[in-house]
Amino acid sequence: MQFASDKILTIEIRSLFCCMNQYEAKEKIDTLTKSLKRHNYDYYTLSQPVISDTEFDLLLKELEALENEFPSLALPDSPTQKVGGDITKNFIQVRHRYPMLSLGNTYSEEELREFDTRNQKSLGSACEYVCELKFDGLAISITYENGLLIRAVTRGDGVQGDDVTANVKTIKSIPQTLTGDNYPDRFEIRGEIFMHRKTFDKLNAQLRESLLKQGMEEEKIAERLYKNPRNFASGTLKLQDSKEVAKRSLDAFLYFIYSDEPIADTHYESLKQAAKWGFRVSDHFQLCKNMEEVWAFIKKYDKERSNLSYEIDGVVIKVNNYLQQEELGFTAKTPRWAISYKYKAETAVTLLNEITFQVGRTGAITPVANLKPVILAGTTVKRASLYNADEIERLDLHESDVVFVEKGGEIIPKIVGVDKSKRNLFAKKITYITLCPECKTELIRKEGEVVHYCPNEANCPPQLIGKLEHFISRRAMNIDGLGGETVSGLFRKGLIQSYADLYDLTTDQLNGLEFETRDETNGKIRKRSLKEKSAENIINGLNASKKVPFERVLFALGIRMVGETVAKKLAAHFGNMQNLMHADKEQIASIHEIGERIAQQLTAYFADAENVEIINRLAKSGLQMQVLVDPNEVRSKKLSGKTFLVSGTFSISRDELKKLIENNGGRNVNSISKSLDYLIAGEKMGPEKLKKAEELKIQLLSESGFMDLLANS
Ligand code: IVH
Repeated sequence: MQFASDKILTIEIRSLFCCMNQYEAKEKIDTLTKSLKRHNYDYYTLSQPVISDTEFDLLLKELEALENEFPSLALPDSPTQKVGGDITKNFIQVRHRYPMLSLGNTYSEEELREFDTRNQKSLGSACEYVCELKFDGLAISITYENGLLIRAVTRGDGVQGDDVTANVKTIKSIPQTLTGDNYPDRFEIRGEIFMHRKTFDKLNAQLRESLLKQGMEEEKIAERLYKNPRNFASGTLKLQDSKEVAKRSLDAFLYFIYSDEPIADTHYESLKQAAKWGFRVSDHFQLCKNMEEVWAFIKKYDKERSNLSYEIDGVVIKVNNYLQQEELGFTAKTPRWAISYKYKAETAVTLLNEITFQVGRTGAITPVANLKPVILAGTTVKRASLYNADEIERLDLHESDVVFVEKGGEIIPKIVGVDKSKRNLFAKKITYITLCPECKTELIRKEGEVVHYCPNEANCPPQLIGKLEHFISRRAMNIDGLGGETVSGLFRKGLIQSYADLYDLTTDQLNGLEFETRDETNGKIRKRSLKEKSAENIINGLNASKKVPFERVLFALGIRMVGETVAKKLAAHFGNMQNLMHADKEQIASIHEIGERIAQQLTAYFADAENVEIINRLAKSGLQMQVLVDPNEVRSKKLSGKTFLVSGTFSISRDELKKLIENNGGRNVNSISKSLDYLIAGEKMGPEKLKKAEELKIQLLSESGFMDLLANS
């Protein structure tokens, strides 16, 4: 099913930039770079992506297009310059003999045909292609000498990767000794390591069971479980204990050979040859004489991919003849003789049963579509996000509509369209609620915002529970052993109403406590009772949280507009809670990047006697109410001999950034000159500076680029 053709998308991206000035472009480049770096880290280092590959590709394409339009703004450490991947600690690093490149990719038939036209033009003749499945796993490069597996290395950053030989040797489908005798003395074979869907389901279920037994809450378990087979395979391959790897039944398909001695004239023959030496080569590959055959292969597997026992995310199309491959050569990042066609996320068709509305921690209302259960990408989907009233309007949703659902990054599926031809003539248009579903207060929608809010902050139960959930969350007080479900149970039982009540709880009160919880995925009510061990864990977690630094305590309070960054700034400026509580609006607003609206929120919060009382009780319970100065502040000579000019605004103050430079041996200067080593360019940096830096060819660094420099020097 195709809803937004790629052509439209490309045009949209281009037309978005056509009226951008340098300043706007720089801002956009910074934001995209930062976000892509974070996603790279989530994907490669943590093996826990939060967005789908498609979404990532779109962001990357957007950045690429912007950099092409404004080449001088492209940052030296841009994610577009990265072959992909990150190297993990704890493994020996090995340099690849042949760099592990990535493939150019496309989602459109038109671009695929352009790939063929380009090839034909360069070669002066038509060429054959081999179509293979694009397995969704991790690339591996394995070296064989005299028929023996001697080393297996991950892609890493494309230039060097992790030596994971011991782990790879546990994979049954990768031969340690080759069969036959006509293999080259030394060669490298590349392929993809993956986990079958069934193994993934089984192991994730086992992991869930064991975490449940340890007393972990559903929500925290959901965070710990692997999102998809690719993550699980990646997490497994990076384990230090090969025995554990062996238990996890990884599998592999091999798809490319690098050898100094010729093996065959074509890629197709070399795949057949590899199979004879004992390698597991997928059965699903095909020699195609022209683009019609290539397209037929792509269409065939778009239908059949859900029947495969493993996940694929597209098809790889490679020029078959090696001489032709050589003639076409490589760009800096990818071979010109191959491309991958990526499938769009799978969609399913189902019926809209009803729309329910959830009230969040901030009072924000989220509409959720309850659907007739349908299988999508191997799992049953019953609910989908609708985001806000505008989204419902955009989709023009009517009661009992037949809707198309799509999975974005294995997280919560979304509705991407409506089959209007199936709509009942008398179906009523969905109207948005006007009263809070929990406390019946009239909802508000602030000017310029898309979300509706329940303004009854002080009494609306989900908002109170939400505040408590925020308080205990990982980035705030990080109270181990206590999760959202228990907090909600304790609240509904009347044991806690504010954060301060948490620290008065006792093991006796909690031990054996029974309460009900609602499973958000299916709305079912479940009875739970706290075991002694869980009760102890909660009390221990609460005690441990008394060491959480002041800035996080401040963030944990959940004062509107006081996020982590603002909390950090306030803590650094005022040093303790008393100073902050007694500061007036002007004093607060004068802090760099705080401003009047935040100051207004803070003074209003502290003017409320109930809030002051809670803070006093928290202080009595022993929570940190002042900044502790760390005498061992990290100092190094990492940046010694280098000069920096800090310009624009950053997530931390300019002074903090400058201090960081000084503390690591660097020197801050105030103007651009030829001798300047780095210009750290933040948001809102003047265009003049940028121009001058460009003329003098000064290296530009984004904030994250600087942090990387610091981390890697
Ligand atoms: S060929 C130089 N073939 O896709 C050619 N790659 O985006 C190297 N992949 O890094 C790759 N299935 O991890 C090739 N049949 C296949 C593939 C495949 C999955 C992965 C591989 C590669 C990435 C490129």
